[in-house]
Amino acid sequence: MNKFQSHIQKWPTTSRLLHWISALLLLVTWCLMLLYGNSDNSLYLNLHKAFGMSVLFWMIARLINRLLTNTPPSVPMPVWQSIISKLTHFALYALLIAMPMAGLLMSVYGGHPVDIFGLFEIPVFVTPDRSAARFYNDVHTDIIWPMIIAFTLAHIGGALYHQFIKKDNLIKRII
Ligand code: HEM
Ligand code: HEM
Repeated sequence: MNKFQSHIQKWPTTSRLLHWISALLLLVTWCLMLLYGNSDNSLYLNLHKAFGMSVLFWMIARLINRLLTNTPPSVPMPVWQSIISKLTHFALYALLIAMPMAGLLMSVYGGHPVDIFGLFEIPVFVTPDRSAARFYNDVHTDIIWPMIIAFTLAHIGGALYHQFIKKDNLIKRII
């Protein structure tokens, strides 16, 4: 153990599991949209919606876990970096909850129930409204999605900076 590893304090197991599974669900949801874009096969769109709703479910579980468990003390870093990292984490939580909600509202305002892996269906619980559907489509694709990309890249960039420039092995806290 070197001087950098000696102070490593991991996130609790639940937080680590929730972290990597939410990253995986986000990746799958995005890949399904790419497949749908390339094939126009509605199976991929339905799976996109079901996995997207799983992200919502998972992020709510993650939020509850975050509020209930102790977080490890931050590693030493300049105040501005600490503020940016906290802001980025907060933004990722907020965006990954808002994104599926906008997707769900887009679908139901468009008059489409949402099938969850053939297990059950979220019915159209609003009066269908084309302009509301268009509004949530724009929020989903033109506002929240670019923000998710930006914050995720900043987050991964931060992790790479810790790994290869600061060499403080921060990643060990989450794996
Ligand atoms: C975190 C979860 C989600 C992510 C990251 C995500 C991401 C995306 C992306 C990247 C697009 C394509 C935007 C483009 O055209 O460039 C898209 C489109 C779409 N998403 Fe999602 N989505 C999520 C959840 C959902 C949910 C829960 C639903 C519905 C229940 C949904 C319904 C749709 C629909 C209907 C489209 C438009 C497809 C079309 O072009 O006709 N999404 N989503
Ligand atoms: C290759 C991908 C990723 C890497 C290497 C990575 C790395 C890390 C590391 C090292 C931490 C701990 C930071 C610390 O201890 O101060 C962390 C925390 C966090 N990560 Fe990631 N991450 C990745 C993907 C993602 C994705 C895709 C998301 C969400 C979209 C995400 C959201 C978060 C959040 C919100 C935290 C704060 C912990 C919490 O409050 O639950 N990460 N990540």
